[in-house]
Amino acid sequence: MVVGPMTSEARPRVFVTRRISEEGLARIAALTDADIWPDDLPPPRAELLRRVAGIDGLLSMVTERIDDELLVRAGPQLKVVSTFAVGFDNIDVPACTRRGVAVGNTPGVLTESTADEAFALLMAAARRIPEGYDFVRQDRWKAWSPMVMLGADIHHATLGIVGFGRIGREVAARARGFSMRVLYCNRHAASHEDEQRLDVRRASFDELLALSDFVSLHVTLTPETHHLMNAASLARMKPSAILVNAARGAVVDPDALYDALKNGVIAAAALDVTEPEPIPGNHKLLSLPNCLVVPHIASASVATRGKMTDMAAANLLAGIRRQPLPACVNPEVYRQA
Ligand code: DGY
Repeated sequence: MVVGPMTSEARPRVFVTRRISEEGLARIAALTDADIWPDDLPPPRAELLRRVAGIDGLLSMVTERIDDELLVRAGPQLKVVSTFAVGFDNIDVPACTRRGVAVGNTPGVLTESTADEAFALLMAAARRIPEGYDFVRQDRWKAWSPMVMLGADIHHATLGIVGFGRIGREVAARARGFSMRVLYCNRHAASHEDEQRLDVRRASFDELLALSDFVSLHVTLTPETHHLMNAASLARMKPSAILVNAARGAVVDPDALYDALKNGVIAAAALDVTEPEPIPGNHKLLSLPNCLVVPHIASASVATRGKMTDMAAANLLAGIRRQPLPACVNPEVYRQA
């Protein structure tokens, strides 16, 4: 539905918690009374709570906790929370539903970029690319050497994918190009057709850990997956194995990971996400040469962030009109209205 500009008194108030693209902001500002947080860093909690008072719609990021306290501060006129992400573990969805607030997210548009990045992390850790780069920059490269920077082969290795949703499946599709053997574990089995098409086999979590040369995490963060990778599960991996996490930081226990990397329980880890996030520059994991960390950038391609902007803006603008969101996390909110 095409909607024209609103009169100034009818303009709904929205708060956008970070600068997204100019185009995205312009689209929102054309139809709303928009308060846009100007910094690159998130609003401090007290400022967030102050700015949400009286708003009709909120466009927020994974960095903001959307809970009862915030919903109370916002007030009963709040109609929509549109998160600039596919994951919504930072949002108390049942609390939103109880208050009649629709929650929108950005599924689908970031699946492939996230799988690309997870695979890039896997390859970088396997072939020790960051270590090699440091080696050269530190002027330690004196000659070609038969025994320097030996890493692990990716081709024909076994990849274990934990969580076989949209992103996990795209990682499996990429692994085919490297002739990898792919195992997955997931609460539900994929269809026979999907298993054949992607050339994957379902395994139990324990079997997957025991057989995989690479373990890539693609589960959502829930009480069940919190610290899924802990001292016990890391100990079930091969000593030569590499762990990749582009899901959520808290799926991995950072202390257990540190011990495992330090003591040779596993060979290396590559993390897009951490606990805590952001990880402080002096965190012990960053002192290890076999731990690669990047700052939660799996969806950060120009094209994908553009699509996320379109989707998050569309969810916000639909929500403030109480129209169904293009991508709604809690459709039950409409049934109770
Ligand atoms: C998501 O979408 O959930 C990511 O973690 C942020 O891009």
